[in-house]
Amino acid sequence: MAGIKIDGIKIAQDVKDRVRKAVEELKTHGINPCLATVLVGDNQASATYVKNKHKACEEVGIITKDFKLASNITQSELNKIIDELNKDRSVHGILVQLPLPNQLDEFVITSRISPLKDVDGLTPHNAGLLAMKKAALVACTPLGVMEMFDYHNIELKGKNIVLINRSNLVGKPLYHLLLARDATVITCHSKTKNINELCQLADIIITAVGDRSKFTLTPDMIKKDAIVIDVAISKDKEKLIGDADYDQIIQKASYATPVPGGVGPMTVAMLLKNTITAASLSSQIER
Ligand code: GUN
Repeated sequence: MAGIKIDGIKIAQDVKDRVRKAVEELKTHGINPCLATVLVGDNQASATYVKNKHKACEEVGIITKDFKLASNITQSELNKIIDELNKDRSVHGILVQLPLPNQLDEFVITSRISPLKDVDGLTPHNAGLLAMKKAALVACTPLGVMEMFDYHNIELKGKNIVLINRSNLVGKPLYHLLLARDATVITCHSKTKNINELCQLADIIITAVGDRSKFTLTPDMIKKDAIVIDVAISKDKEKLIGDADYDQIIQKASYATPVPGGVGPMTVAMLLKNTITAASLSSQIER
């Protein structure tokens, strides 16, 4: 029997409904939650992601400020914009869309964002707090994955989880979130020698490679009834694909996420949630 689809569109809608109510409540306190996005250059995929984020903000009543900057902007010019957004009391969340052009240092830029407005959870301050289990703002995609587990009441305690990604946006925050739930987490990357053997041991596999020529998760690599969370998005001609073929993997998995319609919508929903958290933090309202 095929497994159960973890439907990111449905779960994201639930999150958005909760955020919409929270926005209404904040407005009764005179707070108009506002997210500023910063997009540098003309990367088409990034432009689409930012457009989707604005559309989602609009759906739930979050105001947006849209900064589209030339690809040749200098580090000091961008620093100045971040400084101004940090000071602007009408802005609660700041998102600098990644990747940035080569002349810009992603670490320097993201570290400059005020930790209270860091809706990506990328500042050293918030990343450090996460490792200490104290973070209020955590990277959106990892938060979205956790929301999916919770929606389906999937127990993580004692589970063997193989994570195939070690980035600051996905793998590292997920590692801490899963460890905090008492899972045993193995983080794999491009130099890991025995990914196939490790996958065979996993109760849960979370994969985020995004290039099928480098890594494809096939049914023979997973244990029967494993849970597969596919965070990757790449294009095969015009079709969006993940690291696994959903129709195949769901025949063996107990739960799996499709691509599209899986983790992608969750990332956007959790950004909305983080913006509300940031608005509450800056206004010192308990949520
Ligand atoms: N690029 C791809 N995913 C993300 C994300 O979650 N946040 C930011 N800032 N950039 C990204």
